[in-house]
Amino acid sequence: MQMTTFVNLALGLLSCAAASPLEPRSTTFTHRAETSEVKATGGTYEDFKPGYLAGTWEVFKRGEYVDLEGTGYIRVRWEIEYWKGVGPMYEPTFDGISGTFLFVAGGGGYQITDTPQGCPQGTGCKNFTGSNEYGYTYPVDGYNPWHNMYYYLDGKVTITNHEAGGLYNVGVQAYSYDNILSDINTAPASSGNLIKYGYSYDPKEGSCPCSS
Ligand SMILES: *[C@@H]1O[C@H](CO)[C@@H](O)[C@H](O)[C@H]1NC(C)=O
Repeated sequence: MQMTTFVNLALGLLSCAAASPLEPRSTTFTHRAETSEVKATGGTYEDFKPGYLAGTWEVFKRGEYVDLEGTGYIRVRWEIEYWKGVGPMYEPTFDGISGTFLFVAGGGGYQITDTPQGCPQGTGCKNFTGSNEYGYTYPVDGYNPWHNMYYYLDGKVTITNHEAGGLYNVGVQAYSYDNILSDINTAPASSGNLIKYGYSYDPKEGSCPCSS
């Protein structure tokens, strides 16, 4: 085994296991087939409207869901809605999977536990899960989503919101490999929410699938 293969394999194993300290990406990002843009085939989601969180299918409230089908990538854009309710964060489920469904990359400049460069709401905030004014939402299982969570689908999946206490929104849309690559390689900035580079969890030589 070549050294580069070994290093990528080790990174792949690490990134499957858990979020590790993150650096500018040193892994590759596998390009999987994008032969049939992901579409919604059902659900109780809301359609995008100006002013909404970015996304085609808005899964805003507890019990709302979207059924997806296709062969390509999707973006799940996160927003912790702490100004409306804080408490335990019961994350969305991805079920009814047939075929392949993989978490492949994180981007958008931050994960929810990062320290913001200025607070979007309230008088002060230590991270993206709340503010000193409203209180803080806490993941029940150490889940730490990126602002943009990227998944690869070749088949079907249903995404359901389970918020209760700690409120959040997710905006879901079809996305391309090229646009994910550009997101995860976007350089951090000294103001705004671009705090760190994104990360590939789908290195070619890795031991993924990381679907569970
Ligand atoms: C966010 O910051 C608050 C206040 O310091 C802290 O209690 C909470 O654990 C942090 N949340 C996460 C998910 O790190």
